[in-house]
Amino acid sequence: MGKIYKALIISSKNEKSLKIFNPGYLVISKKGIIEEVSEKDLRKKYKNHCFHDFSNYLICPGFVDVHNHLPQYVFVGIGEKALLPWLEKYTFPREQKFEKKEIASLSAKLFFNDLTKNGTTTSLTYVTVHKAATDIAFECAKKSKIRAIIGKVMMDQYSPKLLAERTEASLADSVELIDKWHGYNDRLFYAFTPRFAITCSWKLMRGIGKIAAKKNVYIQTHLSENIEEINVTKKLFPKCKSYTDIYYQAGILGPKTILAHCIYLDQKEVKLIKKTESNIAHCPTSNRFLMNGIMPFRKFREENLSIGLGTDVAGGYSLSMFNEMKEAIENSKSLCLFSRGRIGQTMTIAEAFYLATLGGAEVLSMKDSIGSLEKGKRADFLIIDHKQIDPMHGKGDYQEPEQILSRLIYRGDRSIIKDVFIDGEKVNRE
Ligand code: GUN
Ligand code: ZN
Repeated sequence: MGKIYKALIISSKNEKSLKIFNPGYLVISKKGIIEEVSEKDLRKKYKNHCFHDFSNYLICPGFVDVHNHLPQYVFVGIGEKALLPWLEKYTFPREQKFEKKEIASLSAKLFFNDLTKNGTTTSLTYVTVHKAATDIAFECAKKSKIRAIIGKVMMDQYSPKLLAERTEASLADSVELIDKWHGYNDRLFYAFTPRFAITCSWKLMRGIGKIAAKKNVYIQTHLSENIEEINVTKKLFPKCKSYTDIYYQAGILGPKTILAHCIYLDQKEVKLIKKTESNIAHCPTSNRFLMNGIMPFRKFREENLSIGLGTDVAGGYSLSMFNEMKEAIENSKSLCLFSRGRIGQTMTIAEAFYLATLGGAEVLSMKDSIGSLEKGKRADFLIIDHKQIDPMHGKGDYQEPEQILSRLIYRGDRSIIKDVFIDGEKVNRE
C-alpha cells in the first residue's frame, strides 16, 4: 500500500539552496518511489494511501557517506600522530585479522547496522584485501538493506607481508566479486579499491582501469592526503608529473572514480580531476583527526568539482554524518581564519547539507535516483525528532526551518533519528 507522511520536510534544491515544505506531504508508492511532495494536503488525491502524521518531526533525505573503512570501525576514535604510522600501528594489523571469516562477519554486521542507525542510507565502503571478507560484507549489507558500493582493497607492493597480494590474483578476485555483486538487487554495487598509489603497482592500476571501463564499475582510492604520503608517492613514480597524474596515466580517473581527501592538489591536478569528471570524497573529520590538513572546499566549489562527504572511519572518529557536516563547516571556518582574507566565504549550512545528501548522490552517479526528496526518486529518507535537541522543545523562538537545520547539524546525533527508510521500507527496527 502507498503511504503519505506529513512533517516538516527539508531537502536540497542545489548546492546553494534548500527546498522546504513546512509542513509538507511526502507521497510514496508501494514500490518505494516518491510520487509527489507538496505543501498541499494530498490525502484526497491519494485516497487509498495510508496516512502517517509526523507533524512534530522533520523528514530529510537519507545521508550518503562516500568514504569509509568497514574493518577500522572497532578502533574508531583512536588516533596517532601521523597517517603512515597510524596505518602501520592500527590499520594494517587490524585488517590482517579479516582472514578469519567470523571476525569479518561480526564486523560487517555491526558496521552496516550502525551506519543505518546513524541515518546513512547509501555508503561507499572499503573492506580488506580478503575476497571472502568482502563477500561477507556484501552479504551483511544485503541483510541490512543499506544501499552500498563495496570493494575489496587491492595492494600489491610496499605492503605488510600478510596483506600483500599478487597482481593477477588481486584483479581476478575483484572480477569474481564484480560478477557476483555489481548491480545486485539494484542496491549493491562494486568498486575497484586500489588502496593508494604507494601500495599499488603500475601494472595493477593499468589492469583496474581497463576492466573498470569494460564492466562499468566504480573505482575508489585515496589521493593527496598527507605531506609525507605525497613525498613517498612521488619518489615511487618519478615519471609522473604529480600524484594525480599517476592515476590519470594509469587510466583510473573518470566519472565513476571517487578520490578521498584531495587536500594538497595543485592547479594542474585540479584540471585533471575536472577533465576526467572524477569525484572527491571530502573527509574533514579525518583530515583534522589525523592532522593531515584542510581541503580547500571553496576553491573546489568554484571549479565546479563534484564533492560529497565521507566519514573515513576510522581516520574519522565518527560514523555520524551530522558530525561530518559540522566538521566540514568548522574546518572551512579555520581555513578562512588562517587565510588572512584570501578565502572569503565559509561553507554554509545549505552547502554542508547538500554535500551529505544530493552532493554525495552526484559523486556516486546516483543523482537521478537518490539524494533528495523529489518525484520519481527512490524514497530513502529519515524521520527525525529534532525537538529533542532544542532546549525549548520546539516551543520557543528560533523555529525557522533553516535554524532547525543548523541546530541539527551542530547538535544532532543518532539518538534523534526515529526511523530510517530505504526504497520506502523501514529498516533497522531494533
Ligand atoms: N591511505 C591509505 N590507506 C588509508 C586508510 O586506510 N585510511 C586513510 N585515512 N588513508 C589511507
Ligand atoms: Zn580512507
